[in-house]
Amino acid sequence: MDCRNEIAVVHNGIIENYDYLKLKLEKDGHVFKSETDTEVLAHLIEKYFHGNLESAVMEALKVVEGTYGIAVISSRDPQKIVAARRGSPLILGIGNQEYFITSDVSASLAHTRDVVYLDDNEVAILTKNGYETKTVQNVSTYKKVEEVLWNIDMIEKGGYAHFMLKEIHEQPQALRNAMRGRIDFTDGTITLGGLISREKELLETKRIVVVACGTSWHAGIVTEYMMEELLRIPVEVEYASEFRYRNPVIESNTLVIAISQSGETADTLAAMREAKHKGAKVLSICNVVGSTIAREADCGIYLHIGPEIGVASTKAFTAQITVLYLFAMHLMRLRNILTQSLPDMAQHIKSIPEKIQSILQREGEIVEIARRYKDTEHALYLGRGYNYPVALEGALKLKEISYIHAEGYPAAEMKHGPIALITKDMPVIFIATQDSVYAKVLSNIEEVKSRSGKVIAIATEGDGHIAGKVDHVFYIPKTSDVLTPLLSVIPLQLLAYHMAVMRGCNVDKPRNLAKSVTVE
Ligand code: G6P
Repeated sequence: MDCRNEIAVVHNGIIENYDYLKLKLEKDGHVFKSETDTEVLAHLIEKYFHGNLESAVMEALKVVEGTYGIAVISSRDPQKIVAARRGSPLILGIGNQEYFITSDVSASLAHTRDVVYLDDNEVAILTKNGYETKTVQNVSTYKKVEEVLWNIDMIEKGGYAHFMLKEIHEQPQALRNAMRGRIDFTDGTITLGGLISREKELLETKRIVVVACGTSWHAGIVTEYMMEELLRIPVEVEYASEFRYRNPVIESNTLVIAISQSGETADTLAAMREAKHKGAKVLSICNVVGSTIAREADCGIYLHIGPEIGVASTKAFTAQITVLYLFAMHLMRLRNILTQSLPDMAQHIKSIPEKIQSILQREGEIVEIARRYKDTEHALYLGRGYNYPVALEGALKLKEISYIHAEGYPAAEMKHGPIALITKDMPVIFIATQDSVYAKVLSNIEEVKSRSGKVIAIATEGDGHIAGKVDHVFYIPKTSDVLTPLLSVIPLQLLAYHMAVMRGCNVDKPRNLAKSVTVE
């Protein structure tokens, strides 16, 4: 047969059996113009086309393995767009006599706030008379039109040079929004709407497993330290991509917490499904309302911090920790565990936004440090206890947006390898706040200084001791140990941002990275 160039496809996802399909299609005479897996879809739809585009799409998708969010048009069945999804997000924006097919609600926000979330194996057929939805098996489905609460101002830069900088500066307000209506600051009572009527399961929880990727995984490690300290429940944190393929042991009294800003990360979604399949209850911590992870979880807590657009996650990290702290307080009351006073905990979190504000006001000090080290090719981030995940996050921020090679390590592990990297030029960033492991961190600093390393310390205000031991200090206000990451990460976000800008990098869209990773 002749390929007639009459089908056009937009595709997000990966067709896993494309090799096999391509071979078969080529045997049938289809001629390929590219190496992409997406082109297979166009030829496959062409193969099944007998005058009706949606029927051809449905037939084709039956033989496809992998993930897709697609939109298809054909000159032989014009005036029609057919969209479908499996494993990749797909949203239908409903405008005024117009429709938008997107993989993210913010993409159509300038035109409409009314959206329909398609489910896996669902197809939408759009014509000028309206739209209808069906399963790939051709059974009609009924979809509710939902209103997105975000507005257009939230997806503009509001005078900042980059979204990332705007989002760093939004953190005081973002955390107030994440707490709004959820915490009684006098007695520490927590109200989380997404957990109502889940008390029985929460009381029965014997073990918590956190699944996440990237920055959300770092928030997961903070959660591990926090939950174990406050609740005395065993917690494990897993990379979602590892968890999903290793047949993990999950019992019915395991609570799986899936942390995902976008709510669409393919590995986190698959890990969560695997856990549910094995009988666990899943709690989601998402920012994007209506996202797949949020919809498929048994219960959830939204961040309510508005869209995060910069690829490097900032405000989502601090908000994830904030809502997980509220969750821990909620569980403490439910289970009558009084490791710390709930009213005191409430007061500590209440003061965090203004403490972050006071750090942001001293951004100029970070700019100076960034200027001094912007040409380095390597950086090491070290911290212990609650600041260990912050070291990982600081290193991730720097490498993501400035392309400087950076490693984060638990400070004491330094002597098992990274100490060999120390030179008089490489900056070593220590998070050395006055918490329970402060003295230990100081001795790690001595180890670096005695090898002529350059040390930048993030330290607690009022620490009169540390300045004499290091090359640069940035002071942050005192808070409880558990909440320290909410403050200590801020200078590291700013440092990464300014070093990247000084190196001429595109911080909002770093090379090779995506905001939402909807493929495995
Ligand atoms: C990508 C982003 C990261 C993010 C990670 C997990 O790698 O670039 O910033 O932390 O995905 O995303 P999620 O939406 O699941 O939190």
